[in-house]
Amino acid sequence: MYFEKLEELPHDPILGIKGAFLQDPRSQKVDLGVGNYKNERLQEEVMEVVKEAETVICKQEKKADYLPIDGSQEFLQKAGELVFQEEYVLLSHKLYAAQSVGGTGALRVLGELLVKLGGKEIYLCNPTWPNHHLIFEKAKLKIITYRYLEDNGIELDFKNQIKILQKASENSIVVFHASCHNPTGIDPSRREWEELLAICQHKRLFPIFDLAYQGLGIAVAEDAWPVRLFAKSGIEMATAVTFSKNFSLYSQRVGSLFILGKDEEQKRKIASHVKQIIRSFYSNPPSHGAMIVTEVLQNEKMRRRWELELAKMRERMQKMREALSLLLSSPQIMQQKGMFSLLPLTVSQVKELQAKYGIYLLENGRINIGGLNNANVQIVADAIKKVGG
Ligand SMILES: Cc1ncc(COP(=O)(O)O)c(C=O)c1O
Repeated sequence: MYFEKLEELPHDPILGIKGAFLQDPRSQKVDLGVGNYKNERLQEEVMEVVKEAETVICKQEKKADYLPIDGSQEFLQKAGELVFQEEYVLLSHKLYAAQSVGGTGALRVLGELLVKLGGKEIYLCNPTWPNHHLIFEKAKLKIITYRYLEDNGIELDFKNQIKILQKASENSIVVFHASCHNPTGIDPSRREWEELLAICQHKRLFPIFDLAYQGLGIAVAEDAWPVRLFAKSGIEMATAVTFSKNFSLYSQRVGSLFILGKDEEQKRKIASHVKQIIRSFYSNPPSHGAMIVTEVLQNEKMRRRWELELAKMRERMQKMREALSLLLSSPQIMQQKGMFSLLPLTVSQVKELQAKYGIYLLENGRINIGGLNNANVQIVADAIKKVGG
C-alpha cells in the first residue's frame, strides 16, 4: 500500500536543530538555532502587553463562530496601517488583504495564487530563509537563486542582483526581505531599493516583500519603508507579514497577506481567487492571535507599550551584537540588523561547535542573536575562536 516503500525525509534544517538541542544533556549548551526572541534569562516570555490584551479579550462576549475565509477585517485594517502607515488610506481601494496562518501561510497562499495566474519563475536570494525554497517548490514555481553577498561575506553583491534581475523574463516573481534580512542581517540601502524598484518596473517583475521583523531592525515604520516605496509607485506587488516575532506570538500563527492590484475591480477579483485557495487549504484562520494584535494596535496606551517593549527587545539584541562583535573583533556584526548574523563558519566548524561545546546554530553559520546573553556571549565567542572561526 502507501507506506511500504516510504523513505524518511531529513529533518527540517531549522526546527530540527531545536530537537537536537533539547536532547543535549549538557547544562552549558547554547541554542542559537530557531529565530525566536529570548530575554536576558534566555526565556521565551510572553510580552506584557500581550498578556494585558488577553485579559481584555477574555472579558469580551465571544461568538462561537468561524471567522470569514480571509479573516477579521478589524485586524487587517490595523495590520495594514502598521505596514503602509500614511499610505494605507490612499491604497486601500486597490489593496486586498487576507489574514494568514503566520508569514509562512501568507507566502504559501500567495505562491498558489501566482501559479494559478500563470507564474512560472521565482527569484530567491542565496542565502535566504530556507523555508522559502520549500514553500515555493510546493507551489510549483521554478526557483532561480542569485548570490546575495560578496565573497567577503560582509557586503551586498548588489551588482550581481541587478545583473540577474535584468535578465529575468517578464512576469517573473522576486522575493525581497523587507528588512532584517534572514540570515545575513544585511539590507539594501534606500538608494539600492529605488534601483530595485526601477528594475521591477522596467522588466515587469512581480515583487513579493517578506516582512517578518518589522520593528526589530531600526523602528516600526522604518522597517517597512521599502514596501511603501514600491506600493506608492503603483506596481503590482504583494507583502507577506507575520506577527510571530514582533509580538512574540509564534504559536498563535498570526499573519497577513497584502496584494496590490491596479483598482477596485482587480481587488475584487484577487479576493475571489485568494478566498478559494484559503478555503481549500484550511477553510478560515484562527482568531485568538489576531484579536490580541487588534486589541493592542487599536488601544493608544497599549500600542505605545508594545512599541516600548519591542524597542527593549531590539536594544537587547543590539547590545549582544556589540558584545559579540568586540569579542570576535568583527565590526561588521554591528552593522547588521535584526535577529540574525551569518558567521563565516564551515559546516565542519558548525558541527564541532555543537559536538564539543554544545553550541547549536544553523549549518550555514547563522546565529540567532536573541539566544545570546551576558553570561554566554563570552563562552560562544571563545568556542568560535577555538574552532578557527
Ligand atoms: C524571513 C522569514 N519569513 C517568514 C517567516 C515565517 O514566519 P511565521 O513563523 O509567522 O510563519 C520567518 C520565520 O522565521 C522568516 O524568518
